[in-house]
Amino acid sequence: MSADRQGDVSKEAKQESVLLRPLGTAAAPGQELVCVFGTGDMGRSLGLRLLQSGYAVVYGSRRPHSCGPLPQGAQATGHEEAARSAALVFICVHREHYDFLETLAPQLKKKVLVDVSNNLKKNLYPEANAEYLQRLIPGAHVVKAFNTLSAWALQNGPSDANRQVYLCGNSDEGKQAVAEVATKLGFTVLDKGSLSAARELEDFPLQLFPEWRMPLRVAVGLTASFFFYLLIRDIIYAYVDQGKDVSFRIMVSLANKVFPIVSLIMLSLCYVPGVIAAFLQLYRGTKYRRFPDWLDRWMLCRKQLGLVALAFAFLHVLYTLIIPIRYYVRFRLSASTISQIKENRTSVFDTTLAWRADSYYSMGILGFGLFLLLGITSLPSVSNALSWREFSFVQSKLGYLTVFFCTFHTYLYGWDRFLQPYGYKWYTPPAYLLSLVVPSLLIVLKLLLLLPCVNRSLMRIRQGWERNDAEDGSARVLLT
Ligand SMILES: Cc1cc2nc3c(=O)[nH]c(=O)nc-3n(C[C@H](O)[C@H](O)[C@H](O)COP(=O)(O)OP(=O)(O)OC[C@H]3O[C@@H](n4cnc5c(N)ncnc54)[C@H](O)[C@@H]3O)c2cc1C
Ligand SMILES: NC(=O)c1ccc[n+]([C@@H]2O[C@H](COP(=O)([O-])OP(=O)(O)OC[C@H]3O[C@@H](n4cnc5c(N)ncnc54)[C@H](OP(=O)(O)O)[C@@H]3O)[C@@H](O)[C@H]2O)c1
Ligand code: HEM
Repeated sequence: MSADRQGDVSKEAKQESVLLRPLGTAAAPGQELVCVFGTGDMGRSLGLRLLQSGYAVVYGSRRPHSCGPLPQGAQATGHEEAARSAALVFICVHREHYDFLETLAPQLKKKVLVDVSNNLKKNLYPEANAEYLQRLIPGAHVVKAFNTLSAWALQNGPSDANRQVYLCGNSDEGKQAVAEVATKLGFTVLDKGSLSAARELEDFPLQLFPEWRMPLRVAVGLTASFFFYLLIRDIIYAYVDQGKDVSFRIMVSLANKVFPIVSLIMLSLCYVPGVIAAFLQLYRGTKYRRFPDWLDRWMLCRKQLGLVALAFAFLHVLYTLIIPIRYYVRFRLSASTISQIKENRTSVFDTTLAWRADSYYSMGILGFGLFLLLGITSLPSVSNALSWREFSFVQSKLGYLTVFFCTFHTYLYGWDRFLQPYGYKWYTPPAYLLSLVVPSLLIVLKLLLLLPCVNRSLMRIRQGWERNDAEDGSARVLLT
């Protein structure tokens, strides 16, 4: 480099906080030099974390002298020179621009290339980006990694949510080198195997809450259905039949019916697939046959179903807490007191009513307490501290107890109301009765499974026993 050129460069470096030194002096003795292609968001964030973790960083850029502010301490140069200087190169360039890399094949031979790229849509290209990169530079060790982290997460360092770096590649040596860097950067590494897993890793950031989709759809469907059902029964019926406008009840009364009803049904739906699976296993006489796909999918989203149900229960509890301060409730209370004074009468204490109210509150509180416990044990930090047996005791045994308390809470709340003809407005049953169908059915089926003779068969099947053909016919007859 000429003296003039060096002067220009140092001016630019100062201006853009890019430290430009001859490449030979880029890394201090003992400091490992890593190359990053691309000075965009990902390249800059990665470079910053690498520098903070003790690496020396050299950027390979189309415009090394005008590529914008780079992390302090990093160097920038042309692709060719940068590629030659380090054994590990991060390719922080979009796949659409990879063709220029083909011309660098000689310089990138035997180097570890880290493909961090993602696509905008699934199946945009016939092959994964990393496989394409490997095809362009067959002599390099391509490793797919870091693509599941955002530039933002990288810049801020590993947090609880973003601690994992997934990687895959055909070269063990390459994967080892990338794993070492990721570990030094403070991430935990999960090896997903050969480069053929790259497609899966590239699809990963494109997924938007896949396990939450079904539970959220169920929640929205149930909420909308019960909302309209209750709107017709509680608001429109009062208007049509008695000419009364009680539309204000939509905000609290209706909400405080819809939320617990949806919560109770969704809570039960977490446990229904386990019961169906048990009956299927009993019917088939083996646990070694696959469940139907719909049952598999249902089983896999039970955690999300449960957490959404918990959120709805939480809303119910919050709405219940404000009942005493509602204008409508305070008005009704004072109106009833004043009318009793005027008529000089005192209402008689009803012990049955007191028992009923206290019991359903108590069941509700116990149910909600256990519900919270299920939610807490589903947190990874808590579930990791539990053995499989402890986790399944809480989720399965205490889970059923939760279903029982919440169902009993609703039965006690309804008490004998289902016998009163006024409850069947326009011949429709009260909503709480509808909410009891799934949990009641679940409890009955679970009790059937707990019968000693049935339970014994189920346990044997789950321990690996299989019914042979001779027994098959008679056992099926027993179960049908
Ligand atoms: C707030 C909340 C949070 C939740 N969080 C989670 C969560 O973090 N993770 C989660 O998975 N679920 C979660 N759930 C859902 C639910 O609690 C669990 O899925 C629960 O384990 C279901 O229990 P189960 O008895 O129906 O079924 P399972 O526990 O699946 O099984 C029933 C019985 O069969 C046995 N069994 C099952 N399959 C086999 C087999 N192949 N071989 C041998 N034995 C078998 C089990 O040991 C168990 O005794 C949550 C629910 C709620 C409400
Ligand atoms: N941003 C994120 O949060 C994130 C997260 C995970 C993965 N990724 C992946 O990381 C890669 C880079 O993303 P980014 O957000 O950093 O993009 P970006 O901000 O657009 O930067 C891309 C860089 O690529 C270089 N480049 C652009 N056109 C080029 C061309 N024709 N030839 C050669 N180089 C070219 C440029 O650097 P020079 O001008 O210095 O050459 C540019 O700054 C992408 O594959 C993306 O999928 C990004
Ligand atoms: C702290 C815990 C709880 C308290 C204090 C509580 C209290 C109440 C109250 C006051 C009502 C009557 C509401 C009304 O008048 O409209 C009610 C109804 C109901 N509760 Fe709870 N509850 C609790 C927890 C739960 C839980 C965890 C569930 C189920 C998941 C649940 C399910 C129901 C159902 C289905 C109804 C009937 C709704 C209707 O149709 O009116 N409750 N509860």
